[in-house]
Amino acid sequence: MRLRSASVGIDFYQFFLNTKILFQPGISRDFSNELAQLTARKFLLVTDPFFAENGVADAVRAGIEGAGAEVVGVFSEVPPNSEVEVVKRCAAAATAGGAEGIVALGGGSAMDTAKAANIVFSLGGDLVADYSGSQTIPRALNPLIAIPTTAGTGSEVTSSAVIFDEATQRKLSFNDAFLRPQLALLDPELTLSLPPKATAMTGMDALTHAIEAYTSAQANPMSDALAMKAVKLIRTHLLQAVERGEELEARSQMMIASNMAGIAFDHAMVGVVHAMSHATGGIAHVPHGLANSIYLPYGMEYNLEVAAERYAGLARRLGVDTSGMSPADAARAAVTAVREMRAALKRVCGLPDRLRDAGVAEGQLEEIAATAVEDGASFFNPREVTFDEVLKKIREAY
Ligand SMILES: [Fe+2]
Repeated sequence: MRLRSASVGIDFYQFFLNTKILFQPGISRDFSNELAQLTARKFLLVTDPFFAENGVADAVRAGIEGAGAEVVGVFSEVPPNSEVEVVKRCAAAATAGGAEGIVALGGGSAMDTAKAANIVFSLGGDLVADYSGSQTIPRALNPLIAIPTTAGTGSEVTSSAVIFDEATQRKLSFNDAFLRPQLALLDPELTLSLPPKATAMTGMDALTHAIEAYTSAQANPMSDALAMKAVKLIRTHLLQAVERGEELEARSQMMIASNMAGIAFDHAMVGVVHAMSHATGGIAHVPHGLANSIYLPYGMEYNLEVAAERYAGLARRLGVDTSGMSPADAARAAVTAVREMRAALKRVCGLPDRLRDAGVAEGQLEEIAATAVEDGASFFNPREVTFDEVLKKIREAY
């Protein structure tokens, strides 16, 4: 894999997306045209207990059955952070039911569970021993249809899944183009009832995907275009989606933005903000989107010198009037604009903006910094992630 500095001219990139994306309010209840094009006729529906009980999974099931296909079972045991044993049970349920494909309905955990389960369901073997890591999948898997219920993770279009391994107490990652769902159905109606704080956290995760993709060492013109558009959409619509969650327009724009940001970071990768968030999630159990929201301006400051022109390019998308500003001033204004977004979210839904208010203890900060340096996301950050420098930023965020 060849990398380039975000500030140096481009000499190589590739862009490949093997997921068909459909956006339409209500599409989760009727996608018969799409089902007709698949060879699979029997599906396992994978979701979490919330959607299994609130009628949403029933509506998806009715749509599939109305199209003449079959739902062989509903696997609704997905926990907030998916685990190896859950994935294995999910794969076993697909096999036992005679499924030919999987429909994943939910947030990142449900989609990642389904993606990982589809490996074992399609190919057999042992999830951890045979498939953890990168480029471990030898051929296309069974059809997987992803229906996200949050506007944040972008998992419906990414080539990765993250699964917690109880045996080693570590998060395992699986990365392969074959992990991308065959079909992503974007139905903003599914997010209408998402509570304000969850909307804010997941939306800030999407914003972090876009900003980190744009400044990544592996950014390319295609990921740049998607990232810039996503930043603009999130800046324009996130607050509205949090304050007036019932408005379909804001929900629609956020779902599109999250999807674009997902494609962008799946190709460009993320950086120091995600490195710190992954570490903070593992050590202090802070939700991923909340950790990203807290760290985002600090991570931008960490990269400010090496990525000033890139941040300057994002400033207008973040609502800054950059006329007459130097690139350095515009870059600083971009960081300020992110801080203002966080302040607004704190005002309207109480989203914490400091680690101490998110359940992190001061005694955990050094361990978080050490873990962040080792995180895979640090590799793609435009500036080297060192323990002393990143600890400084983590202390500031505390
Ligand atoms: Fe993320």
